[in-house]
Amino acid sequence: MRDDLFASMRVEYGDSPLARADMPPLPLPLFRAWLAAATAAGVDEPNGMALATVDPDGQPHCRIVLLKVLDERGLTFFSNRDSDKGRQLAANARAAATFWWSRPRNRQVRFTGPVAPVEDAVSDAYFAARPRRAQLCSAASPQSRVVASRDELERRVAALAAAAGEAPLARPPHWGGYLLAPDVVEFWQGRDGRLHDRFRYRRAAAGWDLERLAP
Ligand SMILES: Cc1cc2nc3c(=O)[nH]c(=O)nc-3n(C[C@H](O)[C@H](O)[C@H](O)COP(=O)(O)O)c2cc1C
Repeated sequence: MRDDLFASMRVEYGDSPLARADMPPLPLPLFRAWLAAATAAGVDEPNGMALATVDPDGQPHCRIVLLKVLDERGLTFFSNRDSDKGRQLAANARAAATFWWSRPRNRQVRFTGPVAPVEDAVSDAYFAARPRRAQLCSAASPQSRVVASRDELERRVAALAAAAGEAPLARPPHWGGYLLAPDVVEFWQGRDGRLHDRFRYRRAAAGWDLERLAP
């Protein structure tokens, strides 16, 4: 069956070349510059990334999470550690993360690498900085588990709010950050006519190796 929905979906990606001379020795400062450019260009939630994990049957699972800390170690996101992704990471502590920022820059950045829970102090600080409603909901929601109804979720949040009163809410032990420390980072710059530019950094004994990949 022909689907007209896709007939008009053909975007040219402009002609901003990405050359080897543009690639610094380390990938994360370049990623920070690209993220800043996407932010400045008004891309919605430019820190949203598709995060892929693999379950014990070898089945990959992919969902969006938000990048919340970027430092020289890598990418930190926050989640429920009893969630499906949390259980998958406990069994297989590796992940892939992909960013896509469309116009005007048309760029993708991909990461793969090991993932580990961050230090409690980092999770505590981020949890404490969240709006109270977000604290209550993330603490009360049994993420990824089947629930009977929306009401059940609302009741869980209300019960927690009542129990906490005005007191600051402590970070629940099942919620916290994960650090993806990339060993591969790929930068993709969309180009007209689909002859895109790709460069891949791979962590080496000293520093990073850099190669151009075919699009
Ligand atoms: C824009 C967006 C941002 C999201 N950010 C997060 C996040 O930072 N952490 C999180 O646990 N889930 C986040 N989610 C929800 C996840 O996509 C997912 O539904 C949830 O983490 C459960 O995934 P799991 O069952 O595979 O563990 C976000 C969803 C969207 C659409």
